[in-house]
Amino acid sequence: MKKYSLDDCLIIDLDKHHSDRKGNLSVVENGLTLPFDVKRVYYLYDVPGGESRGAHAHRELSQFIVAASGSFSVTLTDGNERRTFFLNRPYKGLLVRPGMWRDLDDFSSGAVCMVLASDIYKEEDYIRDYEEFLDFRRNV
Ligand code: TYD
Repeated sequence: MKKYSLDDCLIIDLDKHHSDRKGNLSVVENGLTLPFDVKRVYYLYDVPGGESRGAHAHRELSQFIVAASGSFSVTLTDGNERRTFFLNRPYKGLLVRPGMWRDLDDFSSGAVCMVLASDIYKEEDYIRDYEEFLDFRRNV
């Protein structure tokens, strides 16, 4: 498994198809948009103001996080450096590579956090303890 760095986690602009007076449409297509194929989509919503989510890392999972509605912040760390991304547009998303601890907070009311993931749900892929995460980073 490649050891990814924070620089591998970046904002990707999606295609945005305009339609005068009828709104917009953005597309994610396997083989074109992301450096992984999407096997699962899930979304967070009704997150109470002031609440935070995440607080874990994944061993092998890659994700693409989009503010489908509203806004929130995603803070990533590789154990050394920390970077915060503010997501507030449905046509931009954050690529999160394996081995990054993430915290999501500052959810606006009505925010929908849509996550496109490279694999199905596997609890064994989660690292939920920060010390264990640092250990993982040292040994990966
Ligand atoms: P979790 O990933 O801990 O949420 P967050 O990191 O956003 O706070 O998931 C919360 C619960 O939902 C947990 O009990 C596992 C379950 N879950 C699934 O069953 N399938 C999934 O694809 C995801 C992402 C979570």
